This record gives sequence, structure tokens and C-alpha cells, in this order.
Amino acid sequence: MNIAVVGTGYVGLVGGTCFAEMGNQVICVDIDESKVAKLQSGTVTIYEPGLEVYFDRGIRENRLSFTTDLAEALEPADVVFLALPTPPAEDGSADLQYVLGVADDIGKLLAANPDWGYKVLVDKSTVPVGTARRVIEAVEAHGLKAGEHFDVVSNPEFLREGVAVEDFMKPERVVIGTDSERAGEIMTRLYEPFVRSGNPIIVMDEESAEMTKYAANSLLATKITFMNEIANLCDLVGADVDKVRRGIGTDSRIGSKFLYAGIGFGGSCFPKDVQALHRTAREEGYEFRMLQAVLDVNDDQKTVLVPRITAALGGEDLTGKTIGIWGLAFKPHTDDVREAPAHVVIRELVARGASVQAFDPEAVETTQAAFEHTPLEGPGSLTYSESAYAAASGADALVVATEWPEFRRPDLDRVRESMKQPLVFDGRNVFDSKRMAELGFTYSSIGRPS
Ligand code: UGA
Repeated sequence: MNIAVVGTGYVGLVGGTCFAEMGNQVICVDIDESKVAKLQSGTVTIYEPGLEVYFDRGIRENRLSFTTDLAEALEPADVVFLALPTPPAEDGSADLQYVLGVADDIGKLLAANPDWGYKVLVDKSTVPVGTARRVIEAVEAHGLKAGEHFDVVSNPEFLREGVAVEDFMKPERVVIGTDSERAGEIMTRLYEPFVRSGNPIIVMDEESAEMTKYAANSLLATKITFMNEIANLCDLVGADVDKVRRGIGTDSRIGSKFLYAGIGFGGSCFPKDVQALHRTAREEGYEFRMLQAVLDVNDDQKTVLVPRITAALGGEDLTGKTIGIWGLAFKPHTDDVREAPAHVVIRELVARGASVQAFDPEAVETTQAAFEHTPLEGPGSLTYSESAYAAASGADALVVATEWPEFRRPDLDRVRESMKQPLVFDGRNVFDSKRMAELGFTYSSIGRPS
């Protein structure tokens, strides 16, 4: 099939590349000329394991190309994916200016070129319920008719950063939201090769598809948050959240995944989507109280280690104290630092005067950019270390903020010997409490006895 992907951000680039890998002819469009130039010259612009191989092959075999010209991509396309940013507007609602702007441009081009034929326009971005209808209106404003010249489909994306390629190539399910039989058939044909293992393609109306995306992310965020509160309580009563997780995760109604307690969820999706669903509910006159609790608890969870650190280091004033941080990304296998708990911890420590030395295998540049945009405030400082060992060296305390695999099996004797004080605060429960005590650390984690 001929595919156009508008927007070469995370979802667009992964989706476009994977559609090309599956044998489709894909043209990706972006208004950012320097990004398109990079992509055209064969440089992948995001860090995502496994993407480069497919990207290189797609380009080499002429199935994947990039342009800044929407018309060039639109003309041959059977299916047009809108993978555009929907950043939160000031009031917390999703800002649809890019999605609706491109819908308007597409409407103009299709009206001026009737010989380009029928197109399926697909909302791939996470958009509020009702957006598909608004996209239809934006295109119809140019004298075109849904069902005749085009159809709009809501096709939410469930991929996770870090395993995005795998998630895209072998999705557990594909959700297609459309009332149009014709568009539904085209989308089903497009996705069939991705679900050969028998996973379902679920066709439904647009609104339900849009809601499915928010419901999934909000439920997952709620699951993590629930476990974080169980962990906080475990700390108080002397229970072990790891054991509780195993105890409940074997119940198939609960499931064993997404039950890992830690210093909160981050990323570009969960916080934004929980907020957006909460807001949608409020606009409809319904107060979704659970979601507000999820947001509040998660905010607090990010700083749950801070009072423990200050208590161990002799008080609120951390002047003269050096603190090592392992991990800056919001989770492993990504350089994404949006809403990263590590950043919140660093802000709190620097505000109290600490000298923070941080290491992350991928997320130093993105962290530098984030703190340039919103500078750290306080008398302390932040420097970046060359390695995990360097970040621990000379530190009064070490904080594990992201569970990168390389942090799981370090030479802990070397770590302890290099530290000023053998204090470890493990925000991701990567170490075994008993072993850490045997190795001579004073060790504190989330919801497990030390
Ligand atoms: C999430 C969803 O998992 C995807 O299905 C969805 O497509 C995506 O959002 C999106 O809306 O685009 P992602 O944000 O990449 O994907 O990250 P996750 O792997 O889901 O992790 C989210 C956060 O939860 C991370 O900060 C992670 O550390 C935290 N987490 C996850 C926990 O604290 N405990 C867990 O048990 C699992």
C-alpha cells in the first residue's frame, strides 16, 4: 500500500519505518527542514533500539523516503497517518492546532486535486474524544464529503518507548475506530501482516477508539500508583512490596505486569493522558476523582526519597554533600526525560545545596536541554559523569532513579569503596536488600525492608 505519514516524531518515525519494513511504500512528511534533511541523509533522529536496521533497509530498498512537501506525500497515498504533536495547552487540554491545521491543508490539496482519489486519513496521535469528528469537519470545509472523497479513522498507538519497534511489529491488538466499512477494510488489510500470530484487530466507532487509548494509559498509571501506595504502606508496616507483588500478580484478574513500585511514573504519555482524561470528564460535568488522586500521589512519589536522604545526611541543608544519581531518563532504553522522576529529585537536591553528579547512558543531552529550558534553582550544582562508577565516586549518597540494565549488576565493592559514605537510595528496587547489607551498604528502597 502507499502510505503517507505526517509528522516524523516518535510515533510517526517508528510507524513509517515499520510500515516500510512490512513492504509498504512510505513517504514521511515534516515541516522541520533540518530534521527532514537529517532523515534523508540516513540519520535516525530518535534513540530507539532496533529502529536503525529497518530504517536503513527501508531507505536502501526505496520503500521509505522523507519530504517537507505534503502534496508529494499525499498524492500517491492510500492511507495518510497524522502523527502530530498534541501538547497540553495552558489549561491542560490537548492542543489540536497541528492536527486540525494539517487536516485543513489536506482538505485544500484534495479539493484542488480531485484526480488524487479517495484517501483514508488516520488519527494516530493521542487525541481527545471527538477529534475524529473535528478532522472530518476540517476536511469537509473544503467542499469534500466523508465517505466519498475520504474517511477518517482513529487508530490509537499503544507502543512503549524503548520497545517501540517490537510493539509496532507485533502489537497485542490493533484498534481501528471508524463507521466507514470501506476505511475499516483498508485498515484491516494494512494491519493484517502485523497480527499473523492471531492477535485481534478490533474495529469500533471513532469515539470508542479514542477513549480506548485514554482508558488504557489511565488504568496502567493507576495500577502503578496503587502499587506505589501499597509500597509506601509496606514501608510503614514492615511488609515487602516485592513479595506482595508476586502474591497478587499470580491472580490472572490482576496480572503480573505493571506492578513495580518506584519513584513514580513519567514520560510524555501517562501524565499527559491522565490529565487529559480528567479534564475531558470535567468538561462533561463529571469529576473523575480517581484520576486526580493518581496525579497527586504520583507527584508526591517522585520525591519520596528526598526526606530519607536529608535525614541520613544530617538535615535539610545539603551544602557540601555530594550525591550521585544513576539514571536521568524517565525509564530505561530511552533518552526521553519528559516528566522524569530523576529530574524532580535533582531539582530538590540542588535546591537544598547538594552537589549532584549524574550519569545516564543515553539521556545526558536531553537533560542538559531540559535544564537549559527550565533552569535548576538553588545553591547546589549539577555535573554529568562519564560512567556510573564516576557518578558514585566521592558521593555521600547514591540514588538509583532509572533501572537501566547496566545499573543492576555493577561491581558493588568498587562502588562502595569509591563512595564517601556507603549510602544507597534505590528508587527502582534494582538491588537485593539483604545483599546490600552484607556488602556494607546502608540501603533504602521503595516498600521493602532494609
Ligand atoms: C506508555 C504505554 O505503556 C504505551 O502502551 C503507550 O502507547 C504510551 O504510553 C503512549 O501513550 O504513547 P511509555 O510512556 O513509553 O508507554 O512507558 P511505559 O513503559 O508504559 O512506562 C511509563 C512509566 O511507568 C515509566 O516512568 C515507568 O518507569 C513507570 N512504571 C512502569 C513503573 O513505575 N512501574 C511499572 O511497573 C511499570
